[in-house]
This record gives sequence, C-alpha cells and structure tokens, in this order.
Amino acid sequence: MKSKEEFVHSVFESIAPKYDLMNNVLSFRQHKYWRRFTMKKMNVQEGQTAIDLCCGTCDWTISLAQKSKTGPIVGLDFSQHMLDYGAIKVNELNLQKQITLVQGNAMSLPYEDNSFDFATIGFGLRNVPDLQQVIREMQRVVKPGGKIVCLELSKPTWEPFKSLYYFYFQKVLPLLGKLIVKRYEQYKWLPESLIQFPDHKQLAEIFRVQGLTEVEAIPLTGGIAALHVGVKAK
Ligand SMILES: C[S@@+](CC[C@H](N)C(=O)[O-])C[C@H]1O[C@@H](n2cnc3c(N)ncnc32)[C@H](O)[C@@H]1O
Repeated sequence: MKSKEEFVHSVFESIAPKYDLMNNVLSFRQHKYWRRFTMKKMNVQEGQTAIDLCCGTCDWTISLAQKSKTGPIVGLDFSQHMLDYGAIKVNELNLQKQITLVQGNAMSLPYEDNSFDFATIGFGLRNVPDLQQVIREMQRVVKPGGKIVCLELSKPTWEPFKSLYYFYFQKVLPLLGKLIVKRYEQYKWLPESLIQFPDHKQLAEIFRVQGLTEVEAIPLTGGIAALHVGVKAK
C-alpha cells in the first residue's frame, strides 16, 4: 500500500499535461473567479515576497509575481512534471527572473524563519499528509505580520445544493476524468480527498489553534470552495 504522499505524487505526475484544461472543465471555470477574489483580498503591494506551496502549474504563483511586480516569488511543488508545465507559462510571460520554481515538500520548507510576506497554498492542503504541519511551516517562513492564505475546496452547507453537488463531485466528475483524459482513479481521488478534510469553520479553528491571528474564513460559490487568511502575530 502506497503512502498518501506517494499516491498523491503519482496522481499529479500523471495528470500534469491536462491539469489546466481539467480545472476549467470540472469547475465550470469557477476556479478563475475564486483566484481573482483571493488576489483582491490579499492586496499584494509592489515588492512584496511570497512562497506559493503546492504551486502545480503556477497560476497563483504567476498572479503573485504580476501583482508584486518586483518582489521575488517562490513556487514550490513536489511534482516535477507539474512544475515543468508551470515553467512553460512562467517563461512565456518572461517572469523567470522574478519566479523561482523549487521541487520540494510542503511538509518541510527549505527556507529560514521570517522570509516572506505571504505563504499561499491553492488546492494543496487537502492533499498533504499532515495539514497542521504544513500550516506550521507556512507560519514559520512568513515574517511577523505576514499572511498565510489558503484557497481550497470545501464542503457546501446549503442542503438542496449539497446533494446535487455531491452527486456531481462523487459520481460525474471521475467519469469526466475518464472520458476526457482517460484518468478515472486520479479524478476519483478528488472527492475522496475532501471526506477527511475539515469544513471551513473547522479549518479556521485549526488556523487559530496554530496561533494565527485575525483569521478569516470565506465560503465561495455556496461553500464548494473557501478562502482562509491568517496573520502571523508580530
Ligand atoms: C490540485 S494541485 C494545485 C496546483 C495549484 N496550486 C493550483 O492552484 O492550481 C495540488 C498540487 O499540490 C502538489 N502537492 C501535493 N502534496 C504536496 C506536498 N506534500 N509537497 C509539495 N507539493 C505537493 C501536487 O503535486 C499538485 O501540483
């Protein structure tokens, strides 16, 4: 039996070429709205620095670099194949001087304490073996007053929508994965990964227990995604 980490790694190595396409199809392009909302909420200033954990194909990493304009931005992921596709986009936008892509594990960041203004994680926290450890690492590497920002799938709360959504998410979505990119097991992982994951209120509580302050939890699109922000105490 593979560990969760090995399994998740194999999933993303396998789906990397079609990851961006499938994100658009499976979320009906909602992820674009969630990302725009998140960037607005973060209000990144020129020259600020960030580390984007589980950066995958670098959508968020690129937005951070474009907003910061001059601040160094790190994108970290353990799947080299995902990073390779991200690097193509980074190079096309001529951002390779500002963005450093690193193959590494979110559970143990190769950076010193108090290094960045922001630590972000997009659709990654669900995938890691110990989410509290990852939040601790994010908190460690941001400067006092810096922000930890998590954009992640979550659990819808409104009953009629909930049943319809779970039917789509658990039954239809893996079939679309099979039909469009011939990857059933990999897309079956998506609903499975949400089962053990805390809902938006529980995740906010985990942020607080870890010592983060000014914690905000914002459900998006009926709660199927959520944005969490916490500030490292000064
Ligand atoms: C669903 S993708 C999200 C990619 C990107 N952040 C986005 O917003 O589209 C999850 C990513 O997390 C990475 N990942 C999962 N567990 C990881 C870990 N322990 N350390 C580093 N990366 C990890 C996967 O390789 C994958 O690229």
